[in-house]
Amino acid sequence: MNRFDGRNVLLTGAASGIGRAAAVRLLNEGATVFAVDRDEDGLAETGKLAGGTDRFVPWQADLADESAVVSAAAEAVARLGRVDVLANVAGVLRVTPMESLRLDDYRQIFAINVFAPVAFCREVLPHIPDRTGVIVNVTSTAATKAHPWMTGYAASKGALLSFSISLAAELAPRRIRVVPISPGGVATPLTANRETFAGIDTSWYARTYPLWGRPGRPEDIAGTIAYAASADGAYLNGVEVRVDGGSHS
Ligand SMILES: NC(=O)c1ccc[n+]([C@@H]2O[C@H](COP(=O)([O-])OP(=O)(O)OC[C@H]3O[C@@H](n4cnc5c(N)ncnc54)[C@H](O)[C@@H]3O)[C@@H](O)[C@H]2O)c1
Repeated sequence: MNRFDGRNVLLTGAASGIGRAAAVRLLNEGATVFAVDRDEDGLAETGKLAGGTDRFVPWQADLADESAVVSAAAEAVARLGRVDVLANVAGVLRVTPMESLRLDDYRQIFAINVFAPVAFCREVLPHIPDRTGVIVNVTSTAATKAHPWMTGYAASKGALLSFSISLAAELAPRRIRVVPISPGGVATPLTANRETFAGIDTSWYARTYPLWGRPGRPEDIAGTIAYAASADGAYLNGVEVRVDGGSHS
């Protein structure tokens, strides 16, 4: 018996990095995963990595567009019927020094990192079962720790964290859990180009991984997502779970 046998998951950001690792992990543990991302090829690759199972249902959508979120949620409900786990993993990072920052940068970041998860929660909530349903929102240590040159990203993750904590209290009468998970630095395409952006010396970040002298791996975070979303995490609710290897940045 696998932890996720018979459980339906709607997971965003499944074409790369942490979302891909989480999708593979949940599929391997028996879940059916409705996987949303704008990157169709990346989604197909995730399906292959999970062994080509027909429990993987890819759905291409640009989450910057609210109507695409609404359609994706409707399609997930049509295909799955019930959504036991909603995992909002998709996100974007922009490294922008304050001097050259435009409010449109903030709007774009907030659209994907905050408004899409919020809209998914609203759309899917009627189809999440009382007592066993779980919402996992991937935030970031940037929500509560200084991340210079990333103020928009940090503010968006702070917003998602606050949203999650309050939503957990709102949904408590239905016994639906909401768990914000905050990774520290994880080696994925999201962070790969950071060192070179705008000539900024970001070696500050490289000095902050004291546990194994390395940043996190997507699988490190996927394991925590699976724990939080499973019955093993039944008493975990409305509190930030930091998964940063003890990083001090
Ligand atoms: N990598 C890190 O160091 C780190 C640290 C803390 C938090 N996070 C968070 O973890 C989550 C996953 O990040 P990752 O490192 O795996 O990044 P990634 O770039 O590898 O994956 C992000 C995924 O989101 C998808 N995506 C982005 N914008 C989209 C849009 N408009 N519509 C649909 N899909 C879209 C991308 O196509 C990609 O598949 C993000 O929310 C990120 O903020 C990452």
